[in-house]
Amino acid sequence: MKTHTFPQNFIWGAAASAYQIEGGWNEDGKGESIWDRFSHTPGKILNGDTGDIACDFYHRWPEDIRLMKEIGLQAFRFSIAWTRVLPAGRGKINPAGLDFYSRLVDGLLEAGIVPCVALYHWDLPQALQEMGGWPARSTAEAFAEYTDVVTRSLGDRAKYWVTFNEPTCSGLLGYQMGIHAPGICDWGQSLAAIHHLLLAHGMALQVIRNNAPQSQAGIVIDPIPCQPATPAAEDYAAYRWFDGYHNRWFMDPLYGRHYPADILAEHVQRGNLSSSDLPFLQPGDYEIIATPTDFIGLNYYRREVLSGKVDDRGGTSEPLDQPDEQHTKMGWEIYPQGLLELILNVYTEYRPAKILITENGASYSDGPAPDGRVHDQRRIAYLQGHIQAIHKAIEFGAPVEGYFVWSLLDNFEWSLGYSQRFGIVYVDYDTQLRLPKDSAIWYSQVIRQNGLVEPESQPA
Ligand code: FCB
Repeated sequence: MKTHTFPQNFIWGAAASAYQIEGGWNEDGKGESIWDRFSHTPGKILNGDTGDIACDFYHRWPEDIRLMKEIGLQAFRFSIAWTRVLPAGRGKINPAGLDFYSRLVDGLLEAGIVPCVALYHWDLPQALQEMGGWPARSTAEAFAEYTDVVTRSLGDRAKYWVTFNEPTCSGLLGYQMGIHAPGICDWGQSLAAIHHLLLAHGMALQVIRNNAPQSQAGIVIDPIPCQPATPAAEDYAAYRWFDGYHNRWFMDPLYGRHYPADILAEHVQRGNLSSSDLPFLQPGDYEIIATPTDFIGLNYYRREVLSGKVDDRGGTSEPLDQPDEQHTKMGWEIYPQGLLELILNVYTEYRPAKILITENGASYSDGPAPDGRVHDQRRIAYLQGHIQAIHKAIEFGAPVEGYFVWSLLDNFEWSLGYSQRFGIVYVDYDTQLRLPKDSAIWYSQVIRQNGLVEPESQPA
């Protein structure tokens, strides 16, 4: 391995989200979220798992901060559960909820760890879903109010703000494919939801600018690098469609280009919209959505190879004929080159001033070995390959200034429950004991050396 040293102020962190780690789902005045409702609905989550307890981070966060400090993390990206702060989504504030996050931010700062606060990682208040959810414009207004409450409380101390994590997942998996909360399958609702998520992002940025003027704010998205399986016309069409509705539909309006006209026309042609006059679009919306950010956060796990052998979404991934060591336990192909492609595509196409890699990691189920340690060599190899790809992107001039491994702890992986372990720290869900895996020890070294350093050759 070659030595890859990173720029001096590069930030090394780890990420997590409220519903996936906190537990305490109905404690101290917390309201119900769409993920509480979804996971309590039989048949929605593998093995009937729920986030009711998860990693019990709600009670164990001081211990977890100690762990972060031991690993040497420089930043921790977490999300706020909207329903802890505003149990019904709007209106009455729950001081105990705000206080929890205030103590967490103080605890991180005391440990010398930069808090990177995401306002939304998919857990909409159920009360707002009942009033229409993201397809309703009023939800964007509610989000701006919630942002105001949170940034007034934490804005003096938290300097990194993320409005949304992966609006693609909320908009597409939640309202079009139905595999995430609230479990709806309807293109019309999905496109309205996406619009209001993007609008809410722009509205929230303006609130953050007011309440926390010294901070940096941005959004986290997950454009998936993709390509046609073969040069055949139908594969190319499937690729264009996927890249259009999954990637450009989000990136273009964020950077002031409006929704892509070719994909809008295709939505109409497919019957997803009755006409190209978007019923939810109001004058001035595009300007709000394109409010400038300080950084763009990119999450990367895999690429998509599209085949025109059609499913009803108009394209499907071509199962790649590759041996299993090419895939993680999620079945996702290991393709570090895709991270380089993603960064360079986003940078050359949209010219963000600053890029953070806000999630990257791998699911493997390695548990404690007889020697009591977790030898997750495959995760180390995965992370190493992807960190090398980032280094190369920086050499090409891309302004990547931070990396957050997903995830600090094994946690609740949405509809797959606890079956997927992404942590660099192993969690025994029966005892809640934490055990840093070999990857955590390896990552501490990466942080200490500010990159990947060729191991000194051992004397023979
Ligand atoms: C991302 C999510 C994160 C986690 C990883 C594996 O899409 O943002 O919460 O589930 O995937």
